Amino acid sequence: MNPTPSGKATLDLHRGAPVELPLVEGSEGETAIDITTLRKSTGAITLDYGYLNTGSCASAITFLDGERGILRYRGYPVEELAEKSRFVEVAYLLINGKMPDKRERAEWSLLLNRHSMFHEDMRHFFYRFPDQAHPMAILSAMVVSLSAFYPELSQHHDDRSEEAINIAATRLLSKVRTIAAFSYKKSIGEPFVYPRHDLRYCANFLNMMFHSPVNPYEIHPEVVKALNVLLIMHADHEQNCSTSAVRLVGSARVNLYAAVSAGICALWGPLHGGANQMAIEMLEEMQARGETPRQLIERVKNSKGQTLLYGFGHRVYKQYDPRAKVIKATCDRVLKALDIRDPLLDLALELEALALKDEYFIARNLYPNVDFYSGIIYRAIGIPKDMFTVMFALGRLPGWIAHWKESHEDPRFKLQRPRQIYVGPSLRHLTPSQYSSEYTRSPGAPVARPPSTHA
Ligand code: CMC
Repeated sequence: MNPTPSGKATLDLHRGAPVELPLVEGSEGETAIDITTLRKSTGAITLDYGYLNTGSCASAITFLDGERGILRYRGYPVEELAEKSRFVEVAYLLINGKMPDKRERAEWSLLLNRHSMFHEDMRHFFYRFPDQAHPMAILSAMVVSLSAFYPELSQHHDDRSEEAINIAATRLLSKVRTIAAFSYKKSIGEPFVYPRHDLRYCANFLNMMFHSPVNPYEIHPEVVKALNVLLIMHADHEQNCSTSAVRLVGSARVNLYAAVSAGICALWGPLHGGANQMAIEMLEEMQARGETPRQLIERVKNSKGQTLLYGFGHRVYKQYDPRAKVIKATCDRVLKALDIRDPLLDLALELEALALKDEYFIARNLYPNVDFYSGIIYRAIGIPKDMFTVMFALGRLPGWIAHWKESHEDPRFKLQRPRQIYVGPSLRHLTPSQYSSEYTRSPGAPVARPPSTHA
């Protein structure tokens, strides 16, 4: 898993002799300057806002080429996985590095079924959240709480054997699905529907979401397929913001649940996974205001970066996001199968067509991303918009787990702790008028009683 040495780069800081830094190459020919010894040999560090040029690790999980629109999990193109496999198999692939054989698939399913319930005491948590609580707040809190109920992978019970990690992984995959469905049921005041061992992962989730004692849910195979595709498309995306959060928080050797909870919080942001909810709300607002796609495009362009076209643009894709292509095709299929005509889809299609021809978007390489069409499918399936990012989290779990696992197995594992360039005031001292009153009493004056609370 080490990158291959591929030469040397020379760095001249004009402070003495130039230094040589090793060049390394990944398995797809990506080049990096290895600066491990930079500060030691030169005293300088690198400064890279937003990490546009910085690799934080070598990883064998996902290959992404943003210029060519390529995304592969463990070497397999995502398009092929979406067509020929199920989400739980892709989860196994990401976490264990290979597609499961027949026996492994059966064992994996058994583990997923065995761990689908959570401790009954955790059920009470749902009743303590305010009615309007965002499901991502509930999800992150519930996931970190799992470490209290299932402490096997905590820093005090350091069993990181493959078996322990697979149990924790299936526990997370299975329980997060149950937590997501329960939080929805709580939000609409319906009784919880427990997981069923006779149903597969996605069908089980849909049943837990939409079955009710008075209205049995009919599982539509096209909806199950669409959900599998969506979760596969979200399953990993190398060093994105939430995965980097999982790696960084995990690098303090915190347990898997706490690290994943940090990832969930990062994903919630509107620039990251929260963009799927923002994109649908943007389309809904357009519809409510009677704003045309052309008017929105003009508003975005004139806003000087203040108004974004949500579901567009990406840090690494400089052409069409391959996930968006698959999701757009799935969207067409599922709407047709369910015989749904969604006016928001018409707005989205028109927006895309205009943006792809517009100089502003062309010059900045702004194309639809994974979040542009996914919300239309979720709406068609019946998933409410504040659950969209929860769905993204459910899909991204295998990626987070795989990266947490990989980083802990890496012989170069290190606490992640970036440096900075300090630009604040130089050394200065407090003047007497700035001293706290506790330290300004005149000699011999009575000592003030300590306050009962501290500011
Ligand atoms: N709408 C309008 N203008 C945009 C957009 C957009 N969606 N995205 C980028 N730009 C503009 C930006 O204002 C800037 O313009 P200028 O050069 O005039 O200052 C230029 O394009 C470059 O943008 P940037 O913000 O420097 O690019 P970035 O790589 O830092 O940002 C991004 C990537 C995803 C944060 C950004 O494209 C964005 O905010 N998109 C909307 C939110 C969104 O859909 N996020 C989901 C990303 S995919 C899911 C995931 O994996 O997270």
